Amino acid sequence: MDRTLVIAKPDAVARRLVGEILSRLERKGLWIVAAELRTIDRETARAHYAEHEGKPFYDDLLAFITRSPALLVVVEGPGDTWKVVRNLMGSTNPAEAAPGTIRGDLGVELTENLVHGSDGPEAAAREVALFFPALA
Ligand code: RTP
Ligand code: MG
Repeated sequence: MDRTLVIAKPDAVARRLVGEILSRLERKGLWIVAAELRTIDRETARAHYAEHEGKPFYDDLLAFITRSPALLVVVEGPGDTWKVVRNLMGSTNPAEAAPGTIRGDLGVELTENLVHGSDGPEAAAREVALFFPALA
């Protein structure tokens, strides 16, 4: 089995869309193997989004992801789970994301784009270990 990290971001929790997002993952055939509602601290957010440090949107991204509770989820499937999740999420910008995807159906704003999913197998391993060290 193969695991990846999903975050229902603070906007998703505030808009009460967590159930909708988890439901889409489950209906697809993936398993939820860990979940925790947590306000992500700044240090963890910096580690998580290290690849974006210095970019124009970085400060907004950090302020957003740490502003209120997010649901951190480890999701499992038979293989390439990160890719299955990314396909369910849709493009980064919800305004351009395809209908039928989480972002395409539920959002319109680039920063407040509802979900995070690891973008490859190495990122999945790193991010599961960052948020759920006991599972690493
Ligand atoms: P995420 O990491 O949150 O799952 O999103 P992603 O892979 O689809 O997109 P990524 O390129 O990793 O960007 C991380 C988050 O930064 C915001 N962003 N803003 N203003 C901009 O050009 C811009 N580009 C990215 C988005 O909120 C994105 O989710
Ligand atoms: Mg990303």
